[in-house]
Amino acid sequence: MSGTTASILAAGLVLAAACSSPRAGDGAQAPAQVASTETSMAARPSASAAAAPEAAALPAMTVYKSPTCGCCKNWIEHVKSAGFAVEVHDLDDLGEIKDEAGVPDRARSCHTAIVDGYAIEGHVPAETIKRLIKERPKVAGLAVPGMPVGSPGMEVPGQAADKYDIVAFDRTGALTVYESR
Ligand code: CU
Ligand code: CU
Repeated sequence: MSGTTASILAAGLVLAAACSSPRAGDGAQAPAQVASTETSMAARPSASAAAAPEAAALPAMTVYKSPTCGCCKNWIEHVKSAGFAVEVHDLDDLGEIKDEAGVPDRARSCHTAIVDGYAIEGHVPAETIKRLIKERPKVAGLAVPGMPVGSPGMEVPGQAADKYDIVAFDRTGALTVYESR
């Protein structure tokens, strides 16, 4: 168990180090280590270096869905129009992908996407994904559990939108509300 915890912590540190944001100063315990890691990663393009965040290239996204899922197609159109390049894989059984991505059972929805090392489960708004990859919290991903009406790709003409939460999940299965709509 401590091995698992250690590897989760290590993954979190790598994630934090990969983020060359001003938050580097938060880790007051080892500033030198953070600085040297940042130097070694200097070749990696950083979002904070971009003069125009709107024009900055977004990371590519891979989406796993069932071949017949219509709302998945709608959601893919939504993220494409927000600027993400999307590669789509049709699979009959998505259980393995969701297990690998660490999506807790109670957070599951129709499709699973991977972007910039994060899992995106279900009808998560593109804006929220952009916030995630900018803020880079130490989570495994975001989910909109179920399929709330009015979430991107789940619009139903003439039907009022549901209120819903976009939750963040980690590898322990813990859920926290990241955003509410
Ligand atoms: Cu759906
Ligand atoms: Cu879907």
